[in-house]
Amino acid sequence: MSLKSLVSPADASPQPGRAVRLGIMASGSGSNFEAIQQAIIAQQLNAEIRCVLYNLPDALVAQRARSYNIPAFFIDHKAYKSRRAFDTALLHQLANHDIEWLILAGWMRRLTTTIIDAYPQKILNIHPSLLPSFPGLHAVEQALTAGVTISGCTVHVVTAELDSGPILAQAAVPVLPDDTARTLHARIQEQEHRLYPLAINLALNR
Ligand code: GRF
Repeated sequence: MSLKSLVSPADASPQPGRAVRLGIMASGSGSNFEAIQQAIIAQQLNAEIRCVLYNLPDALVAQRARSYNIPAFFIDHKAYKSRRAFDTALLHQLANHDIEWLILAGWMRRLTTTIIDAYPQKILNIHPSLLPSFPGLHAVEQALTAGVTISGCTVHVVTAELDSGPILAQAAVPVLPDDTARTLHARIQEQEHRLYPLAINLALNR
């Protein structure tokens, strides 16, 4: 499926004017962070990543961020007694960096309303399935187990209910007979890297 068939070029074009301030939260390798940063460098997205927050000490996203001189902060969820206390610490950093939009790029923790209500309709997430199919953890494995022949990825607005907010954009990929979770996820990620910057533009232009 081509994204061109779903949206007009103007909807997914970079906004004129000043760069929008983004915060990114990620728990893993950060390839989606990298795709967004590359889109900014290529002037396909008029934005600036002000900070990256990560919650796993070895998350590669931290190195990627620092290689672009973007500050990256480790905030350990295990150090907080409740999800709300953890979210309050995250919010403190996001507010310190004066972000306008929060982009979840492989963030593996559920958000509470402490954060969701601070950025109403301005938190986006990418999920490795065609939602509403296969929400939650292990979405790629869920798709393989279900035997679907098409899967993909979804960018959606984050609401209090997991992986259920309004869908902004989707891209589909075939599931091949000999796919493993690794090969299917790699095919989905190629589309994620293309889709996320476009979907951020769609959100900013709404
Ligand atoms: C992506 O597949 C995304 O859909 C999911 O987590 C993964 C993050 O990958 N939410 P990366 O860290 O951006 O490489």
